[in-house]
Amino acid sequence: MTSPVRLALLGCGTVGSEVVRLLHEQSADLAARIGAPLEIAGIAVRRVGRDRGDLPVDPALFTTDPLGLIKRDDVDVVVEVVGGIEPARGWLVEALRAGKSVVTANKALLAEDGAALHDAAAEGGADLYYEASVAGAIPLLRPLRDSLHGDRINRVTGIVNGTTNFILSAMDATGAGFAEALEEATELGYAEADPTADVEGFDAAAKAAILASLAFHTRVTAADVHREGITEVTAADVASARAMGCTIKLLCIAARGADAAGRETVSVRVHPAMIPLTHPLASVGDAFNAVFVEAEAAGQLMFYGRGAGGAPTASAVLGDVVAVARNRLAGARAASESAYADLAVRPMGEALTRYHISLDVADRPGVLEAVAGVFARHEVSIATVRQGPAGGGPAGRGSDAELVIVTHVAPDAALAATVRELRGLDIVGSVTSVLRVEGGQ
Ligand code: NDP
Ligand code: HSE
Repeated sequence: MTSPVRLALLGCGTVGSEVVRLLHEQSADLAARIGAPLEIAGIAVRRVGRDRGDLPVDPALFTTDPLGLIKRDDVDVVVEVVGGIEPARGWLVEALRAGKSVVTANKALLAEDGAALHDAAAEGGADLYYEASVAGAIPLLRPLRDSLHGDRINRVTGIVNGTTNFILSAMDATGAGFAEALEEATELGYAEADPTADVEGFDAAAKAAILASLAFHTRVTAADVHREGITEVTAADVASARAMGCTIKLLCIAARGADAAGRETVSVRVHPAMIPLTHPLASVGDAFNAVFVEAEAAGQLMFYGRGAGGAPTASAVLGDVVAVARNRLAGARAASESAYADLAVRPMGEALTRYHISLDVADRPGVLEAVAGVFARHEVSIATVRQGPAGGGPAGRGSDAELVIVTHVAPDAALAATVRELRGLDIVGSVTSVLRVEGGQ
């Protein structure tokens, strides 16, 4: 057998420790698949003395000097599972420029400055693989990057954050409020000690940027993604969705479009939305992820599985390690980034969406006409109106009926302006819920 392929592992936390475990347990199979054994040259961590349980690894391999480890002549592949922008960007650029293959799960860095990594990979003639950065164990990026390269993808719709999907599924199943469901997610170990990146949509926005870049052969960064989290979703919103035969999911939606001059564009957004219970993504519960891809020739494709957790994510990391190790032995390199399309990113205001709006209003003649007039002024067409008993407007304002209005598709800016004007009407006690509706007219 050929001489070993030597790995520098940066990070040995939730994901890194499972990478170590899998490398140990599968070593014979991995060697047979690659044609050479994999060996850990060193493991960079923050605290060498940290208790790492029964991790099957020589403690002498640990170091607090990632850069020194990367620069060693006996390191062929750098596996980064630390996370964050800096110092990870500096480490990976250094490794790639030196011709070392990189496998990373770092979605934040790829979405913030993927270009720096791709440029460094091209400069050093090295591989850059990042399957684990989006949707954990689900083989998704390589199908987009390789298998679907003969097709034209028009739209990608996904549930790409496990923590928020767990929270919304719990709210839907039990009627719990957001805070209660978040507490349960924390107790079960899904949510981080600081769950901001998950519940405010930053994690999903980073993944959306990576997906859009690959699907549409262009460069999209996290800053290009319209982002809203789930902290404002209430138990009343969830009940209202149920009443309409829908459920609420935090969706990432990346779609092709065109500007006024007919030039092709892309829009990328992350926000909670109602989807019909019949939609394939509606049945994705717990902390699972799923991504729905619509392509010209292939039609509709669905990718489903565990999007988070040490072992599932390590599976994707190891798959990439095998690929880059094989490439090295063959003296080859995977195709570089494909960003030739160079599409402009369309502002959220131009995205075509539908709204579900609940209002507490005065129950007297002329109210419906006044409300409908606001929609008409903004050229938003109403699809359905339902009136029921008031949901509890402010006391003393005579709010004694609830209107639930669902619109047809309209530019998001027109829908937002409609809601703003409704809030200012005397006859409207309060706008109790505003949610976008996706999937099916
Ligand atoms: P953890 O916080 O569990 O682990 C981080 C590791 O990095 C720890 O071993 C830590 O050392 C080490 N580390 C932190 N800072 C430094 C530093 N300056 N120098 C050297 N080592 C450092 O993170 P996760 O394993 O959860 O996540 C790792 C990456 O994988 C992130 O990019 C994350 O977004 C991504 N990811 C995570 C998933 C998950 O489910 N957890 C799923 C998909 C992707 P020490 O052990 O000493 O503290
Ligand atoms: N915090 C992320 C999630 C981890 O909940 O999906 C996987 O990227």
